[in-house]
Amino acid sequence: MRADAGDGWTIRVAGFDPANAARDESLFALANGALGVRGGIDGVDSASDGAFLAAFFEQAPIHYHEKFTGFALSTDTRVPVADAKHVRVVLDGESVSLTPDAGLIRELDLSTGRFRTSMRYTAKGGTVEITTDRLVSFARPGLLALRLTVRSLDYTGPVTLLSDLRWGRRAEGQGDDPRIGVSLGAGGVDSFPVVTDGIPTALRQTARLSRRTCLLRQDHVPGHGLSADQPFLTLDSISQPFHADLTPGGETSLVKFAAYAWADQDGDSDGLFATAGATLAAARSAGWDVLAAEQADDLARFWADADVVIDGDAGLQQAIRFNLFHLYQSTGRDGATSIAAKGLTGEGYEGHYFWDTETFILPVLAFTAPHLARRMLEYRIGRLDRARAHARGMGHSAGALFPWRTIAGDECSAHYPSGSAQYHINADIAFAARLYEEATGDSAFLYAHAAEMLFETARIWPQVGHFNARKGGAFTIHEVTGPDEYTALVNNNFYTNAMAAAHLAHAADLYRRMGSDAPDHLSALAARIGLTDAEVALWQRAADAMYLPTDPDLGVSPQDDDFLSKPVWPFADTPADKYPLLLHYHPLAIYRHQVCKQADVVLAMLLAGDRFTPTLKRRNFDYYEAVTVHDSTLSPSSYGILAAELGDSEKAIRYFTETARIDLDDLHGNASHGVHMAAMAGSWLGIAWGFGGLRWQGGIARFAPLLPPGWTRYGFGINWRGSRLRVTVDPVGTTYHLLSGDALTIHHHGTPVTLTPGQDTAIAHTPFPVAVKAIIFDLDGVLTDTAEGHYQAWQRLADELGVPFDREKNEALKGIDRMGSLERILAGSAVTLTDAEKLAAATAKNGYYQDLIARFSPDDLFDGVRDLLLAAKAAGLKLGVASASRNAPTLLTRLGIIDLFDHVADAGAIPNPKPAPDIFLSVAQALDVPAPACLGVEDSMAGITAIKAAGMPALGIGDPAILTEADAVIGHIREFRLDRFVRPA
Ligand code: BG6
Ligand code: MG
Repeated sequence: MRADAGDGWTIRVAGFDPANAARDESLFALANGALGVRGGIDGVDSASDGAFLAAFFEQAPIHYHEKFTGFALSTDTRVPVADAKHVRVVLDGESVSLTPDAGLIRELDLSTGRFRTSMRYTAKGGTVEITTDRLVSFARPGLLALRLTVRSLDYTGPVTLLSDLRWGRRAEGQGDDPRIGVSLGAGGVDSFPVVTDGIPTALRQTARLSRRTCLLRQDHVPGHGLSADQPFLTLDSISQPFHADLTPGGETSLVKFAAYAWADQDGDSDGLFATAGATLAAARSAGWDVLAAEQADDLARFWADADVVIDGDAGLQQAIRFNLFHLYQSTGRDGATSIAAKGLTGEGYEGHYFWDTETFILPVLAFTAPHLARRMLEYRIGRLDRARAHARGMGHSAGALFPWRTIAGDECSAHYPSGSAQYHINADIAFAARLYEEATGDSAFLYAHAAEMLFETARIWPQVGHFNARKGGAFTIHEVTGPDEYTALVNNNFYTNAMAAAHLAHAADLYRRMGSDAPDHLSALAARIGLTDAEVALWQRAADAMYLPTDPDLGVSPQDDDFLSKPVWPFADTPADKYPLLLHYHPLAIYRHQVCKQADVVLAMLLAGDRFTPTLKRRNFDYYEAVTVHDSTLSPSSYGILAAELGDSEKAIRYFTETARIDLDDLHGNASHGVHMAAMAGSWLGIAWGFGGLRWQGGIARFAPLLPPGWTRYGFGINWRGSRLRVTVDPVGTTYHLLSGDALTIHHHGTPVTLTPGQDTAIAHTPFPVAVKAIIFDLDGVLTDTAEGHYQAWQRLADELGVPFDREKNEALKGIDRMGSLERILAGSAVTLTDAEKLAAATAKNGYYQDLIARFSPDDLFDGVRDLLLAAKAAGLKLGVASASRNAPTLLTRLGIIDLFDHVADAGAIPNPKPAPDIFLSVAQALDVPAPACLGVEDSMAGITAIKAAGMPALGIGDPAILTEADAVIGHIREFRLDRFVRPA
């Protein structure tokens, strides 16, 4: 949007473009978790404007032509309620409408939580300026307050204000886009004005089928010179008129309060009338200024913990605050509501809660507003009985299965392949509960309230999976759908398996902990739900044996049993206007191909990341990035975070930007239906989990901050187990500031650091760019991808020898010379070989390896290597190669770069192999450059150790968590920008 980024606290738009009116209503929506009011304005008629209550929705039956057992019976649809925000201005009989020369300004103030407008209107009697100021009170659920001022510039004449409660708005139809709403059939909203002594005093609305009821009243404080008339009724509004006379320079104002009250079933009108009346009376006695101050105070508390600062990109600064504001205002605060896919800003996705709520949104709140995260868990816990009923409907004799999409708690998805089949929602809710416990330390809440839900949901996994004899007894899960909705009904969806394993292990752990910490509660709970030690032991066994394979040919995690066998989607033949694919192709056409709507394996690499190696993460990132179209707004954030973890800061910033600006720039063209809560949450995750590198384990928060290119500084807040922490990262280093709480130990790039309350702890980044005269490169895994070739050759040999070996074991062999590698492989096994046999084995391995590199050509150089080498030479740097591989000269020749090096070490002539420094020292000597004036570049732990032992600065390629001794780590050689790391000495 053309919003002025200003000071980063406002979204300010001048003028009005009718084509974007509906989008702007979403962006400027105000809410408090219970009530949401879209940001339409007076003087514009809009069919998409409106208001919503989190608790007010219709429940219409789903009609199937072919209906099978267990299909969802009805769908909840959050429908618009009467809109109370309008006050029409009439100047001497002429209704004010928005004109092109009105000079309209709209401004959402993120620090005070108010939406303001100003415009001018010229009538017969002259020109007036009209300003409005609006809030939806955080402190008072159900209350909308606004102040309208009409000031005469040169107008003389009467002014009438008509303060409306309007109910003409109908729910939107779905049309051909499944992402909007549904047809309500016989459902809908009936509106009944409440008339007392001939005067309309309130409006009652009832959803015809769900019988949910709400009631709306209004009250006013007229400003000087404004007199009230009798309210009157029209076909679709109650209007309260006020009159005044204006002369140039004069003004009149009106403060309006509107109160909504609601009830589940056929709420008693008198009760609702009284509740709304009490809200109005309290608001009136507080007055506008107090309400505005309350609002600002509430937000000030939120921002004190949650604010994110980004220096160096005003558009991103604005976006991240805008996103956090929407998350905060959209979250249910009563434990009976949660946060819908579009919050309370529009009708998209019918106001449903999905897995987004727990996977993306709840984590943000767990770290920034933990009391709200707890409320979200309470919402799920309160729906446990419905989840049990859903499980029975799906044929499960025990346990609970949460529905894919819902408001009241029952499954509302009519398309089970991408709906109910997404069993991972059970594991996602468990993930959120686990994270909440880690971040807050609030185990008492888990024991007392969440344990039953976590146990009941864990029970589902053994009913959809089994110990599979054909997979060596591994626990396999069948006929489910993972997060990627462009693939449905599969066996062993990698994400589902990984998240189910974590869920089962945590449930078993919780059971054990409760056994010692809360034994009485546990035994009562176990008795109530019939849970035994044997069942919990089964969970642990299933978690331990979970099937999480690596494809032997591609070295990636298969998204499911068949995914990698399918043809890749014909991307080259798909024109841009065929995206999103879901609107243009039959689901089966999509399911038959390798094409991902969104992160699936990549998300598993994040949310269950502690069990996967950096090599696997990198390979998965590269592989799945090539087949992911990001048609879901949930997707880019996950890719951005993993890119940051892999040190690929350029991709990280690209995905982050796409996530952060998704609504402000309307990147998916459908912000008109409401803003995208999960992407908004994803932008915060991109800061904290991505650039900040926040992870957690065993009660310890771990950070691995990096500063993305182009930014001069960023900072974010974290609530961690009762402490409030701010993390600021700039070009010099990272500063941790403990705002409150006891001394706290965190990890910074793997090193424990203890923080003292009130004090800054500053940790400098490494001193890049360094002044050097030479760069000494490792070869395998740095300049080309032979690391995989070495692995394949060792694996083949190990299989022949009957020695256990896998990718994880291979990780430790990187940089280790041939015989050293063989010794290490044999050391972990029962096999012993004579020296002659060892020589033969090593020779055999080398044969396999040479077969592979015989096919190498300059095309196999990693991206950017040739340019990098040429640039380094042009800058006058000497270049060397220090590879432990005796095949290095052959390989460099095949790659066509041998002539670019001033010296290539002869691995066979170096007495002590890596991690000893010898090879790097010998290259430095041959180059005639002192060791400290050489930069070493390596992808292996042994190599980094060797470089540091040689007294050289070390640049790692790979995972910072593994290459901990490196002075800096980048994900890939293509990110080696010479000016960033090297200053020719
Ligand atoms: C290193 C590789 O570069 O060279 C190791 O990282 C390998 O995996 C070593 O074992 C020796 O290679 P070669 O070609 O001499 O067997
Ligand atoms: Mg290497």
